[in-house]
Amino acid sequence: MKNNKPNPVIGITYGTYDLFHIGHKRLLRRIKKYCDVLIVYASSDEFNLIKGKKSFDNFEIRKRNLLNSNYVDEVYKEEKWDQKKQDILRHNINIFIMGSDWKGKFDDLNEYCEVKYLKRTPFISSTKLKKKITKKNEKNKL
Ligand code: CTP
Repeated sequence: MKNNKPNPVIGITYGTYDLFHIGHKRLLRRIKKYCDVLIVYASSDEFNLIKGKKSFDNFEIRKRNLLNSNYVDEVYKEEKWDQKKQDILRHNINIFIMGSDWKGKFDDLNEYCEVKYLKRTPFISSTKLKKKITKKNEKNKL
């Protein structure tokens, strides 16, 4: 018997997703419009250190926040810069989407799937939130 069920469109994205904020949520909501299943590779705590970042939330907390967003189906660890091609092939990814701050950076992955960049939400970032928290903590110490 022929199976007429269409294959689900599988999307992938990458990022740290520290201090999960409205910019993250808006991006994931818009990405989910392009796919049925959304896979996020969130940077591991070790990879963040390699990138010169120290995340406020550890990987397990960031993973939980992503899954709680209602837009994300699966979360895995990003451990190194050059794993994307393997991830795309392993999961049979149809579309790779990132925020516009990465525009053009991953165009070479076009060989394996569609590559798209969506406009970043202005005025908010994990870095800004981290700075605010640090400032508040310092003020409270006085
Ligand atoms: N992103 C977005 N709008 C924002 C912040 C992030 O669309 N205001 C997107 C990024 O373009 C990326 C994804 O969210 O595709 C994850 O980004 P991440 O670097 O984890 O978030 P930032 O807030 O940019 O973190 P940082 O300040 O550490 O760079």
